[in-house]
Amino acid sequence: MVGAGGFLGRSAVRAFSSAGYEVRCLVRDPLKEASVREDGGTPLRGDILDVDSLQRAAAGCSGIIHLAANPSEGGDPGQVRVQGARNLVEAAHRERVPRLVIGSGYWVFRGQPALIREDSPVEPRGESQTNYDTERTGLEANSPGELEVLVVRPGMVYGNGSWFRNLAESIRTGEYRVVGDGANRWSFIDRWDAGTALRAVLESGAAGEVYNAVDDHPAPLREFADFVAAELGAPSPRSITLDAAVREMGEAVARHLAADRPTSNDKLRRLGWRAQIPSYRDGIPGLLHAMFPGAGTTPSV
Ligand SMILES: NC(=O)c1ccc[n+]([C@@H]2O[C@H](COP(=O)([O-])OP(=O)(O)OC[C@H]3O[C@@H](n4cnc5c(N)ncnc54)[C@H](OP(=O)(O)O)[C@@H]3O)[C@@H](O)[C@H]2O)c1
Repeated sequence: MVGAGGFLGRSAVRAFSSAGYEVRCLVRDPLKEASVREDGGTPLRGDILDVDSLQRAAAGCSGIIHLAANPSEGGDPGQVRVQGARNLVEAAHRERVPRLVIGSGYWVFRGQPALIREDSPVEPRGESQTNYDTERTGLEANSPGELEVLVVRPGMVYGNGSWFRNLAESIRTGEYRVVGDGANRWSFIDRWDAGTALRAVLESGAAGEVYNAVDDHPAPLREFADFVAAELGAPSPRSITLDAAVREMGEAVARHLAADRPTSNDKLRRLGWRAQIPSYRDGIPGLLHAMFPGAGTTPSV
């Protein structure tokens, strides 16, 4: 597992280790070793940009998962994602690892009112362009029976970290603004369900295929934001027009937030996967209670 100490990576480590796998986790920072062990993984020092370290970690593995990214570190985001995918392909070939799963994101899809399936049109931009390039790099190396490459596109993964922590904190302080009228739908997935989705795809996915990883209930952004606010006992967030959001946040982020992406998980379900938390309405109250003990007025579940 590469990116094992990250937001998505930790959920994947837990999903695999709890199913009895030995999960070798590449870590750069020795301080991350404890959290990897806590999740049931075995830390190994290395870097995705160092093929020899990947090769050592990959020896004897039945699969590799690429969840490494460096959004907050500056520099060229393509290095870790795209060059990292190339390096993993090389390490997999050297060690004859049969499967490689590339973690991506559903932001690569163009927004559309109809249910988004894996073959729906894409329109990558910003971070999702990097994810899309990473997918392509992996899929070009797909060679059934030799190295099988698969892609997982999680939706908005909520948990204590990443974008959801920022959203919840800014709703709490009254700073969050919904872009446009918020009628556009987002598709969500609980963080730990994202881990089991990655496991299902590695175990049973078809070579060269893409799988969406979302729960069963896409929801309008306004409804979601109001739900979070109510759980926190905060006022309903204000709105910002799309034009103003583009000026403030940049084109890629603003259009991503405003896109209508109701997304299907049918293909993943055909692998036998089911979301343990089928809707954000089931997962968010307990999560917020854990993140902000004492906040809000609604009793948590
Ligand atoms: N967060 C979401 O809601 C979400 C949803 C859908 C898709 N995604 C996609 O999933 C991917 C991972 O996202 P994330 O939120 O889990 O990111 P994250 O929390 O920032 O984790 C990134 C991981 O990559 C590791 N890393 C960075 N540079 C590395 C290098 N040179 N060698 C080895 N490891 C390196 C980091 O290691 P350190 O721990 O040492 O820093 C960290 O563990 C991204 O492509 C993202 O677009 C995320």
